[in-house]
Amino acid sequence: MKIKSFAPGKIILFGEHSVVHNRPAIAVAINRGVNVELSSREDNIVHVNVPVIDYEAEHELTNSKLNYVIDSQKKMITDYIYEAINLFELDKGFNITVDINMYLGAGLGSSAAVTVSTLKAVSLYANKDLSKDKIAKMARSIEIKIQGAASPIDTSMSTYGGIIYIDNEFRLERLNVNMQLPLIVSNCQISGNTGKLVESVRQKYEKYPKIVGHIFDAMENIANDAKTALEEGNGDVIGDYMNINQGLLDSIGVNTLELSDMLYKIRSYGASGSKLTGSGGGGCIIAYTPENIDEIYDKISAEYPTFKCELSNNGVEASITDDK
Ligand code: PMV
Repeated sequence: MKIKSFAPGKIILFGEHSVVHNRPAIAVAINRGVNVELSSREDNIVHVNVPVIDYEAEHELTNSKLNYVIDSQKKMITDYIYEAINLFELDKGFNITVDINMYLGAGLGSSAAVTVSTLKAVSLYANKDLSKDKIAKMARSIEIKIQGAASPIDTSMSTYGGIIYIDNEFRLERLNVNMQLPLIVSNCQISGNTGKLVESVRQKYEKYPKIVGHIFDAMENIANDAKTALEEGNGDVIGDYMNINQGLLDSIGVNTLELSDMLYKIRSYGASGSKLTGSGGGGCIIAYTPENIDEIYDKISAEYPTFKCELSNNGVEASITDDK
């Protein structure tokens, strides 16, 4: 038996940082993410392969479980895989390959996509067809266990896909969007520290409450107007909203020299708008490229690791084949 599953990663289109201060945000699941391939074995060995980090290991199932304990200091991407496997009672072993087709630790929700895709594949192998609600819940509890805290955004995006509007009370609303959203994601290969950046923004807000409060208000207006534009299929304004949102993010101190280099270059190559995505301080930028995406991709990818992507509407999916 062979099981293949896919779970998408995500980008934040609007509202990072302001969302921490009770303003709305918009997150988009992308059609790049994590592919898992699981094939059955007749013995009780679980063989785990994660090519992107050159990881390969074998563990034995004892009383239907793996003998695996997280090292709380290290927080490896493999922890998410083992935690997902160990939520099931397994009679027989299997080989599992986890292919991460996006950047790790760059704000694209890679750990959530690994967790959700693994949960889907292993649950089917254990003969359980879990609902998406159940998968999202299990994935979030794994993230909390490993990271200590986790917002439900990444695991929801990986599970349900689509575009989600997070309102100012942190409720998640799936938007009904029919337009295409051709995007380019480029990685500056320097990691931003989310905790430190969130804290530095909080301090700025405390020091200049009126100024920073108005910046958050402007970010809120962008997220709300962008919600309407996406629902109405009005792509014309999206690029402008991204550029304005980027200027606001710069003003609260989360932009960097490297991000700016990517952002201005990609605009000069023809992107209709660009901004950092996630915490900033490094990580990735996104660009909205409704025209000439291939030409823009060729130019920016010559300088920075880059991929093209689109909205992924479906969320986690899997297929089973009899492979005798
Ligand atoms: O880099 P990410 O995808 O984890 O996003 C961080 C987004 C922030 O608004 C900066 C923090 C948060 O918890 O919402």
